[in-house]
Amino acid sequence: MAPTLTSFLAFSGLFSSVYCLPPTERSTDTVEVLDLNAVSPGLPTPTTLPSVIALGVGTQNYTCNSTTGTYSSNVALADLYDITSLVKASTKDSLCKLYLKHSQDCQSEDNPLKLNLIGDHFFDASSKPNFDFTRSDKGWLQAKKNAAVPAPAKASKGVKDQANGAVDWLYLVDNDAGVSKDLLSVYRVQTAGGKPPTSCSGDEQIEIPYAAEYWFYKEEF
Ligand SMILES: *[C@@H]1O[C@H](CO)[C@@H](O)[C@H](O)[C@H]1NC(C)=O
Ligand SMILES: *[C@@H]1O[C@H](CO)[C@@H](O)[C@H](O)[C@H]1NC(C)=O
Repeated sequence: MAPTLTSFLAFSGLFSSVYCLPPTERSTDTVEVLDLNAVSPGLPTPTTLPSVIALGVGTQNYTCNSTTGTYSSNVALADLYDITSLVKASTKDSLCKLYLKHSQDCQSEDNPLKLNLIGDHFFDASSKPNFDFTRSDKGWLQAKKNAAVPAPAKASKGVKDQANGAVDWLYLVDNDAGVSKDLLSVYRVQTAGGKPPTSCSGDEQIEIPYAAEYWFYKEEF
């Protein structure tokens, strides 16, 4: 185990010290306030507490535009795990890195940290981002992008051989299509990985592993 990971585990007490085992200690029901100080310029500031915080783990998919020689038309596909009671100050910027690392090193396991799967993030046929929490009865958000800022320089660049950088931090709101239920906005923060290489050729398609915290609210800000 890498020294930094070991010391993080020892320090936080959040994860079992045996690699690839689930979190053993949970915080109380206190919900964290979203901290956007790491990015500048910032994103709109939430004025209420989140209704759910999810760890998204999946891929960002890109297609090469042969005219420009760069990847574009980015869609994502991710599992959403409940981390509402796990996020606290000491885990900031660490859950996503840890999960990406675990999913790489514990490949035989689908869900190495044994978190609760509560939803699915996907893009529909018309490229609209959806967050479907039907399986956990926590609602649904079909969104549009409202704001984006680059991830902080210290963000995890991603898994080995696909470490091209961390995708932007985002703020998305309900797209007024009448699909959303109970949820009206989401922040994508603490991103790890997900960026494509800077150049490409042909009409190549790629999938880049990423993880992010998604903070969902019942209001827009
Ligand atoms: C994105 O990649 C995943 C594999 O990680 C694949 O299952 C999915 O079909 C892809 N989605 C799109 C829209 O290309
Ligand atoms: C590729 O990029 C060019 C130049 O920006 C653009 O006109 C074209 O629509 C793009 N093609 C696709 C398939 O996105």
